[in-house]
Amino acid sequence: MSEIPLSRPDITDAEIDAVTDVLRSGRLSIGPQQERFERLVAMRCTRHHGVAVSSGTAGLHLVLEALGIGPGDEVITTPFSFIASANCILMVGATPKFVDICPQSLNMDPNQLDAAITPKTRAIIAVEVFGQPRHMDAIEAIARKHEVPLIEDACEGLGGRLGDRPVGSFGRASVFGFYPNKQITTGEGGMIVTDDDRLADLCRSMRNQGRAQMSAVLAPTDDADDASAPDTGAWLDHPRLGYNYRLSEVAAALGVAQMQRLDEMLEARRDVAERYTALLLDQPDLVLPAAAPGCEADLSWFVYVVRLGTQYNRAARDRVIAGMRRHEIGAANYFPCIHLQPFYRERFGFGPGDYPIAESISDRTLALPFHNHLAAKDAELVCQTLAVMLQREQLLLEE
Ligand SMILES: Cc1ncc(COP(=O)(O)O)c(C=O)c1O
Repeated sequence: MSEIPLSRPDITDAEIDAVTDVLRSGRLSIGPQQERFERLVAMRCTRHHGVAVSSGTAGLHLVLEALGIGPGDEVITTPFSFIASANCILMVGATPKFVDICPQSLNMDPNQLDAAITPKTRAIIAVEVFGQPRHMDAIEAIARKHEVPLIEDACEGLGGRLGDRPVGSFGRASVFGFYPNKQITTGEGGMIVTDDDRLADLCRSMRNQGRAQMSAVLAPTDDADDASAPDTGAWLDHPRLGYNYRLSEVAAALGVAQMQRLDEMLEARRDVAERYTALLLDQPDLVLPAAAPGCEADLSWFVYVVRLGTQYNRAARDRVIAGMRRHEIGAANYFPCIHLQPFYRERFGFGPGDYPIAESISDRTLALPFHNHLAAKDAELVCQTLAVMLQREQLLLEE
């Protein structure tokens, strides 16, 4: 492990006690913790329903399936994101269509979205990349105009706001992910939030093997798959195809404890980001992440990603990352373009030049170590090491 890791979860005694209580309770799946966690996240997003699932990817998959999207349908999304925001489209047999990004926000460019919508477009998946909510309102308005459902992939944006709207309140449904590098974690986990009763019911059924809706009181505590168990009730009735995308009570209890500390953790992340910005402000070769002036977007800090100036290329960026790793500093190339992943090139014929803004930015971005307790001295060390690597690149440019 790197001496200064790229990310690190923030786990206190509150989380450890919450998890221990569940372990002692004997109910490890489908219970009160799941319902509490769902309520907390839904309330934060001003949504009626929360549906806890086993990952953000599972949540995106369920929403697409619940919307009836499948082969022959097209879904528009961004090429600059974690691959799951496009993979879910392939999981239902639909075709991904990408729209290039805005170079300031790094989110899908609403100015290009309108023209990309065709009669085959069945949904739009918009992402708050690196926790930046800008354009989500404009994208929502375009989706409404075309009567195409918007799915907000909010996996990186919990706690952010755009004007008076929280991240997680845009479109037909929003999906969060709780992998350990996220603002809150359940180890693995995710959540769908929506106001749509039917969509929520379908997702609840499909996360649970297609079973009819079942309350925690009715779900068996053990022998879940034993048809001879006397108390199974409707446990073995499956009106539709479903998956096992449930979130365990252990994970949900962790999520409840993390949600109760969300504001405190967001503040800690903001402090770390501000420290980085102060340390890097004078670096002429870097573009720093920041809210645009006059924009009322409250970014929720997921990662701290800097961008090398346009005089540098991908090889330079990769050398900077490798140099930092040699000094035991976790740094990473967030994100490689999705359409240029080998699988997408082969299957859909994408190639370099298809989405030039995303490609140019993706070649020059790097994520620095970022977590709630990143010490001031560690942030300084990261920035000093980055400065040394950049000096080396300047010399190479001058050669
Ligand atoms: C934008 C985005 N979408 C989807 C996901 C998928 O979430 P998970 O890893 O929980 O499946 C992630 C998480 O890493 C993400 O960053």
